[in-house]
Amino acid sequence: MMPCDFPDFDLLEALATAVIMVDDRLRLVRVNAAAQSLIATSETRLRDLSLPDVLPGADELIAAARRALLEGRSFTERDLDLRLGRVNLTTVDCTVTPLWRNGSEPSLALIEMTNVERHQRIQLEGNMLMRNQVSSVLLQGLAHEIKNPLGGIRGAAQLLERELEDQKLAEYTQIIIGEADRLRTLVDRMLGPRGESNKQVLNIHDVLEHVRQVVSVERGGAVEILRDYDPSLPEIIADRDQLVQAFLNLVRNALQAIEGLGGTVTLRTRIQRKFTIGNTLHRLVIRTQVIDDGPGVDPTLATSIFFPLVSGRADGSGLGLPIAQSLVHRQGGLIGFESEPGHTEFSVWLPVGEQQ
Ligand SMILES: Nc1ncnc2c1ncn2[C@@H]1O[C@H](COP(=O)(O)OP(=O)(O)O)[C@@H](O)[C@H]1O
Ligand SMILES: [Mg+2]
Repeated sequence: MMPCDFPDFDLLEALATAVIMVDDRLRLVRVNAAAQSLIATSETRLRDLSLPDVLPGADELIAAARRALLEGRSFTERDLDLRLGRVNLTTVDCTVTPLWRNGSEPSLALIEMTNVERHQRIQLEGNMLMRNQVSSVLLQGLAHEIKNPLGGIRGAAQLLERELEDQKLAEYTQIIIGEADRLRTLVDRMLGPRGESNKQVLNIHDVLEHVRQVVSVERGGAVEILRDYDPSLPEIIADRDQLVQAFLNLVRNALQAIEGLGGTVTLRTRIQRKFTIGNTLHRLVIRTQVIDDGPGVDPTLATSIFFPLVSGRADGSGLGLPIAQSLVHRQGGLIGFESEPGHTEFSVWLPVGEQQ
């Protein structure tokens, strides 16, 4: 080991790893600076307290410390929720090591914790992004496969109609033509807006206000969408039409979720610092949330709603979310969601000040 040049050097305080030392009755003996910041309390306020006092609800962590002291072995636990009562502070990986002063029973336990939340979130987003790329390739392929023969089917039905001797039979050719047209529209939606993106400097609130207007016209003015905007947001560079389409899909879903329940839909905008999308760490992003107080996303669909053709509604196409995700992705952004009964949030993160 290298000798240390500083006689007062306190290794524990210099560590980036959060370290808490407790005695055999789980009373706090040492809490280093990293641990103080993790549990958001200073050492003076921690004096004479025990682990369950400072982290009530961190049951798994407390149990691990007890076991280490009782069995005289170390334990490593992954993805522990560090709770302060009902509030989840963060998620940590933790190792508990028993220490002996003298005697046969361990008299201290050393708890080392590393924060894994950021790491996990990035992985999650990475997965989502991957999944979305796969699904948009699938979507486009499928759409082309359907679109190509449609022209032929429609043309043949028109020719047939002209040759019909009994015009009453035209009812059937009209069905063929009508359905071919309907499929064509559907496929165009699957392929999304074509051509190059038309990026411009825009204010997210203009986009959201336009979306509010469209859905209120659609529903004969019978919708009220609450607004909770941060008026100081910077402008972004994005394709306006594509963003409008993405938000329309989210807002329509939210309105469908509260249909007949008398609930509310809220649009909220906020600035967020340091946010990673895919592999890029952005200094500033705008987070727009479409919030509803409907029944929530069906848990059996939760991991697949961004896949094409996944729908929980009898008359749904299952294309709204994959198309929205793909459009937001083209702006360098990301859509994610959190949902529980009575509160569902779809968040759209869009980078500020970085051109794609
Ligand atoms: N705000 C929401 N609340 C509850 N469920 C939702 C919400 N948004 C989306 N979903 C679920 O995700 C599914 C997929 O949505 P989407 O891709 O837009 O397709 P569609 O609306 O055609 O079903 C919906 O059918 C619904 O089950
Ligand atoms: Mg939809």
